[in-house]
Amino acid sequence: TELHQFIRGLPKAELHLHIEGSLEPEMMFALAQKNGVKLPYASVAEVRAAYQFSDLQSFLDLYYAGAAVLQTEQDFYDLTVAYIQRALADDVRHVELFFDPQTHTARGIAIETVFAGIAGALRDAKARHGFSGSMILCFLRHLSEEDAMSTLESALPLRDAYADVWIGVGLDSSEVGNPPEKFAHVFTIAQAMGLHVVAHAGEEGPPAYIHGALDVLQVERIDHGVRAEEDPALMQQLAASRMPLTVCPLSNLKLCVVKDLRDHNLARMLRAGLCVTINSDDPSYFGGYMNDNFIATADALELSRAELLQIARNGFEAAFVSEQQKQSWY
Ligand code: HPA
Ligand code: ZN
Repeated sequence: TELHQFIRGLPKAELHLHIEGSLEPEMMFALAQKNGVKLPYASVAEVRAAYQFSDLQSFLDLYYAGAAVLQTEQDFYDLTVAYIQRALADDVRHVELFFDPQTHTARGIAIETVFAGIAGALRDAKARHGFSGSMILCFLRHLSEEDAMSTLESALPLRDAYADVWIGVGLDSSEVGNPPEKFAHVFTIAQAMGLHVVAHAGEEGPPAYIHGALDVLQVERIDHGVRAEEDPALMQQLAASRMPLTVCPLSNLKLCVVKDLRDHNLARMLRAGLCVTINSDDPSYFGGYMNDNFIATADALELSRAELLQIARNGFEAAFVSEQQKQSWY
């Protein structure tokens, strides 16, 4: 339709994308074969058939298992190049991608290998396509704060070499039972280093976790944040401060955060004045990249062109780039 064409032509920024979650089954199979990793699936079709989730944890189990095929710098490079190709096709101009070093260092992969592969692809995309991209190192919240701290320490020597791309830290993985406060110290240190700070909060966890991310971790964006709606005072605070929420509609649907996309609160939050953005989260696992998320949401919630334009602009407003850079996009 015309509205879909309008969406495809909108310049977009993607602020909630786990690079490991962009691993398509075809690449998973190819890398498993190359690296001699055993997968519990006989075919690409079997992998896709397994992507039926009941909640966040049921997804994370497959997501971490799939990431085990990533071994060399070239693997991380190829993974990131493949994502960038999909992003370019969707008129995504800028990405601030998440990566989970602990998933890889726990398997004996050096953190340098992870940085080099992802950053190499981002730098090549900038040179070749003018594509803008940066990296946010996420701590796995089901692990201890000590583990997060040693991960940050192991990344410190890379700070200067990757100053052009490594811009922040985040917090992901199993939310309920692992509140933001658990990571207060490591976030304080990261922020003191001049890194941007974000955290997943209010995806499955209660509004109290959003308060914790804001008040204790001092985050600059909330990843997901959809459960903010249960706390009217929090909603007012988020609107007044224009605190960005990186919402992922198809993810919320696949992980049963909402039963039906027509029940999603994205439009209500947008109309309440919140800085809502649309993102793909783990596109390979949730069945859609940026345009798929925009189109499915626009159709389900009957968003207007003006609202879609606002959502796309919010992505640039919420990006960790200079005002001058933002003005070059809008
Ligand atoms: N939530 C928490 N952890 C994650 C997610 C998510 O949506 N995707 C990848 N890791
Ligand atoms: Zn996420």
